[in-house]
Amino acid sequence: MKKIFYLTMGMGAALLLASISLPKQDAAKDSIDQKVETLLAKMTLEEKVGQMNQYNGFYDATGPAPSEGNAKNKFEHLKKGWVGSVLNVRGAKEVRELQKMVVEESRLGIPLIFGLDVIHGHKTLAPIPLGEAASWDLEAIRKSARMAAVEASAVGINWTFGPMVDISRDARWGRVMEGAGEDPYLGAKIGVARVKGFQGDDLAANNTIAACAKHFAGYGFAEAGRDYNTVDVGTSTLYNVILPPFKAAVQQGDVKTVMNAFNILNGIPATGNAFLQREILKEKWGFDGFVVSDWGSIMEMIPHGFAADLKEAAMHAANAGSDMDMESYGYLKHLVDLVKEGKVTEDKIDDAVRRILKVKYELGLFNNPYLYCDEAREKEMLYHADHYEDALDMARKSIVLLKNNPASNKSKLLPFEKGKKIAVIGALADDKTSPLGSWRIGSDDGTAVSVLEGLKEYTDFTYAKGANVALGAPEFQQQVDINTTDKSGFGEAVALAKKSETVVMVLGEHGFMSGEGRSRTDIGLPGVQQELLEAVYAVNKNIVLVLMNGRPLALPWAAEHVPAIVETWHLGTQSGHAIAQVLFGDYNPSGKLPMSFPRSVGQCPIYYNHYSTGRPDEEAFVFWSHYIDESNDPMYAFGHGLSYTDFEYSDFKIDDTNPAEIKVSVVVKNKGKVAGEEVSQLYIHDKVASVARPVKELKGFEKYSLESQESKIITFTLTEAELGFYDNQGKFIVEPGMFDIMVGTSSIKGLSGSFELK
Ligand code: NOJ
Repeated sequence: MKKIFYLTMGMGAALLLASISLPKQDAAKDSIDQKVETLLAKMTLEEKVGQMNQYNGFYDATGPAPSEGNAKNKFEHLKKGWVGSVLNVRGAKEVRELQKMVVEESRLGIPLIFGLDVIHGHKTLAPIPLGEAASWDLEAIRKSARMAAVEASAVGINWTFGPMVDISRDARWGRVMEGAGEDPYLGAKIGVARVKGFQGDDLAANNTIAACAKHFAGYGFAEAGRDYNTVDVGTSTLYNVILPPFKAAVQQGDVKTVMNAFNILNGIPATGNAFLQREILKEKWGFDGFVVSDWGSIMEMIPHGFAADLKEAAMHAANAGSDMDMESYGYLKHLVDLVKEGKVTEDKIDDAVRRILKVKYELGLFNNPYLYCDEAREKEMLYHADHYEDALDMARKSIVLLKNNPASNKSKLLPFEKGKKIAVIGALADDKTSPLGSWRIGSDDGTAVSVLEGLKEYTDFTYAKGANVALGAPEFQQQVDINTTDKSGFGEAVALAKKSETVVMVLGEHGFMSGEGRSRTDIGLPGVQQELLEAVYAVNKNIVLVLMNGRPLALPWAAEHVPAIVETWHLGTQSGHAIAQVLFGDYNPSGKLPMSFPRSVGQCPIYYNHYSTGRPDEEAFVFWSHYIDESNDPMYAFGHGLSYTDFEYSDFKIDDTNPAEIKVSVVVKNKGKVAGEEVSQLYIHDKVASVARPVKELKGFEKYSLESQESKIITFTLTEAELGFYDNQGKFIVEPGMFDIMVGTSSIKGLSGSFELK
């Protein structure tokens, strides 16, 4: 395929260059808006519709195979100016060649914008986004997105389809790995940090790229966690949980693009939903960038039962405010006719094209269409040494110490003393690809530092694989075999554990078991890993379980029996170094869960900020809201995460003398022997409201470090922004009355009090 792409580049391009002039940047004073108007006035209807058309490249696909992926036609269309953007074409040289074809051979020479899913790095990979979210460190997250933008922009990319700001409460959904977890407050802050990292301070610089808040809206609420499934949420959840991270990305992050979603919302597909895209996003929030459809989501309105055919689907999407068509071919085929038939007004087309051109101007593409196509820079920036440092920092900060109880010799297993002899068991310990995680289009297999490589720098160890994790055929990532049954390695692993004092078991999901299209109904350890864990435990209870996974797992047996559990997600390029540094105490873990870990998959969706029911309290008999076979509580709560030191909370105070700024403070002391970082979290509960409010809502957090025995006063300020909520008409209101407040180390542990908002 790639070859076809080069074959079509001919000398003809150079000949045409003489007669066609680029739309040059006018006098500097001219605002971008004026330039857009000037250009728009020169465009034919076909050329306008062309800007609204996005094609996939010719060799990577990040969705179902394009039904009409005839490369030859695509080149013709590019030369006619019928394509505004392409996705999945990368490499400074490849991008330059395609850009040149369009700039030199199309009538107006409007440059393409090149999109790619740059989700947690391009070559150098940071942890998966859910892992990064566990750091609660907004500056580190911003820097991580910056690193991703620097590498991606060096391969010609000027637009990433990230961040995903979908809130999700269901660990069965494979795409939870791509977001910031279950909480809208944390999710909004992280979304803004990511947008700022991608877009930087100057979008026209050659190392910044346009971001895209996705998937607008509700995609994270796919029923039963099955990807692409029906979404059916109430208005209050829409306004208070789903929309806030998008609003923040638009208003605080100035995100340049938004991607709509595959799902329906109240029976109307998000892609054809004017209420979402026009009324809320563009009118209410003042979003002035453009909306791209998700892959094929325009044509998917046909199977949704909302459009009879592609023409009707294109009409709905354009009227509803979807500005660019990704891989449905609906706009190119039908929009011109739809305008001529009066079914879509030319004003709507103009509005979409204005938005797209504006972003292209802002990216600096009209000044220099090849701004991002510098092969020397590409060589220099990919896997840049500075990026290893940033990725390592982010990886360490993303690790969550879930449990660290005394083991059989009565002392805590972690951290290990330097040089301590350990046995290591588990295929993932020796894996240099899986820890890179899902959604890593630009990266190279085998580039993660494995756990074994990381440990080598600290100690001699003995190793046994024990069992396969179910790696699956690499060329068919979707076919990851989760049912591996081979136990032939058990004997060796158990024998090794028997003669060792301490065992590190590295278990979990392969990197490709989460991500798009990777929903699971069983969120335990895949394959025979649970059996391996129990077999090893039978001979040696001193186990440190290092988990690698792209979603919360339900591991009740491990939580009950294994003394120490370290959650490492898929940490990216620097995995092994980060894990070894934490195990040997060179980095004191500071991560906190951004998503609840259930005890059983049957509890999903499970989230800390749920509502009360009318029967919340335990009754002697069955008639209260509970399960008869499992507790209501998660295994590990939202916000949970331990440290190698202990933080003591005291002196909880609420100062409500000024109702516009309620001050809440605590004193936190590091009572242990080592320095550590803590994330103090503030939760509110609006006790009685005109629309029932959740039992707890995160409304503030602060991450800081304390030396041994050091104390600090942590003060939070609550204003209307934190105390109010959206009513069922989408109006933000603040109601007087009683509020419970808690400040603590997780969503379930802290000091609390109340005040009345007058
Ligand atoms: C489909 C995914 O839902 C979306 O997030 C992604 O950006 C596009 N494919 C393009 O790869």
